[in-house]
Amino acid sequence: MNTNKKINVAVFVSGGGTNLQALIDAVDANIITRAKLSLVVSNNANAYAIKRAQSNNIPVLVIQKDDNGYLKFENKVIKALEMYDIDIIVLAGFMQILSKDFTKKYENRIINIHPSLIPSFCGKGYYGLRVHKATLEYGVKLTGATVHYVNEVPDGGKIIMQKAVRVLKNDTPETLQKRVMEKAEQIILPRAVELVARKMLKEKK
Ligand code: GAR
Repeated sequence: MNTNKKINVAVFVSGGGTNLQALIDAVDANIITRAKLSLVVSNNANAYAIKRAQSNNIPVLVIQKDDNGYLKFENKVIKALEMYDIDIIVLAGFMQILSKDFTKKYENRIINIHPSLIPSFCGKGYYGLRVHKATLEYGVKLTGATVHYVNEVPDGGKIIMQKAVRVLKNDTPETLQKRVMEKAEQIILPRAVELVARKMLKEKK
């Protein structure tokens, strides 16, 4: 296999960007070798993730949903993806649900990180800290993170990778979120990106 060959990745963000940072670090550490972080798309002009991209010389586009709704947003996104010759999209803390048409167009080419062990605490309304609040309220002893393909069902696509994390007695949503991010999300997201990149390069041959 030509070891120089890489797929182009667009990372979609909305907030802090710790998962984006994990991808950047994984490229530096040669954990990701077959994917290039070619573009960051943010739907939030104030996302700290934008700064992380800029300080690593990754092109950033802020594309926001306006009164014309999804269609206009997604058409702009599609144009950008074509311009940057993007192969896969990684949703890394992207807090917007993509339409059925969009997910169909990029079937098996969008992956998402979710901060629970799917099928628990996932789907519409479960995002960010809300997931960890629900986890603690239910009283489960194990949680974790899941990387999965994205289809028209929120958090419903095929699972690529999961990692479990223990829930501790005195956890708050914040402490649990931090542990899930550090011990699960930031480990499996880079690995999953490399896995999907290798698979895609094999299929392209
Ligand atoms: C992460 O915990 C991610 O798994 C979650 O939001 C956080 C974003 O953090 N995503 C979802 O809840 C999606 N349903 P980050 O911006 O620091 O990567």
